[in-house]
Amino acid sequence: MFGHGNSPDGAFTGHGTGFYDVMARFVLRRVYRRLARDIAAEAPQGVTILDVGTGPGVLLVELARQRPDLKLKGVDLSADMIAAARRNLAPFADRAEAITGDVTDLPLPDASVDVIVSSFSLHHWADPEAAVPELARVLRPGGRVIVYDFTRGPFDKLIDTARAQSVLHAQSPQRGPIRTGIPFGHQGVKLVLSA
Ligand SMILES: C[S@@+](CC[C@H](N)C(=O)[O-])C[C@H]1O[C@@H](n2cnc3c(N)ncnc32)[C@H](O)[C@@H]1O
Repeated sequence: MFGHGNSPDGAFTGHGTGFYDVMARFVLRRVYRRLARDIAAEAPQGVTILDVGTGPGVLLVELARQRPDLKLKGVDLSADMIAAARRNLAPFADRAEAITGDVTDLPLPDASVDVIVSSFSLHHWADPEAAVPELARVLRPGGRVIVYDFTRGPFDKLIDTARAQSVLHAQSPQRGPIRTGIPFGHQGVKLVLSA
């Protein structure tokens, strides 16, 4: 249990983690490769990237392969997912780490990361509004939050909260469709907020 009373979904613990890990590493690998290319194209040299709701860390694995200069951190509510992420990130242990934590109570110091990314996790957050000040707290000035999710993700809650709290609003939010590459035509959305 974490600060705002969130607890991991059963789909992301125990056997659920094993199933998700295999799907992410084998069936959906090209989805993460595609998202990592998108992030790698805009991440400055040598910066620290945090993946929120990293699950088994496959996006971070792809980023580690594509950009050896980056320092990578993953946070997830599920300790089982973090155990899987640590196994998957073991070859990159000198520059990647995974930590159990809640997006509303991140186990990171203020202004300690340059880019925050998140893939297909937002629609699982119990309290997206409470995530906004926490994302703003750990992001360095000039940093960016890049959120990928399905169209049903509560993007409006992030945008409205950021506007109401005057955080993550250095530039207007950029929101647009993306091809996820997930079979059966799942449409995706990419949202970028700037500190
Ligand atoms: C569908 S999985 C996505 C995992 C990974 N990002 C990916 O694309 O494969 C959603 C993940 O979000 C995590 N999650 C849900 N709520 C969270 C929260 N409040 N804080 C951190 N992680 C959370 C879950 O434990 C789960 O691992």
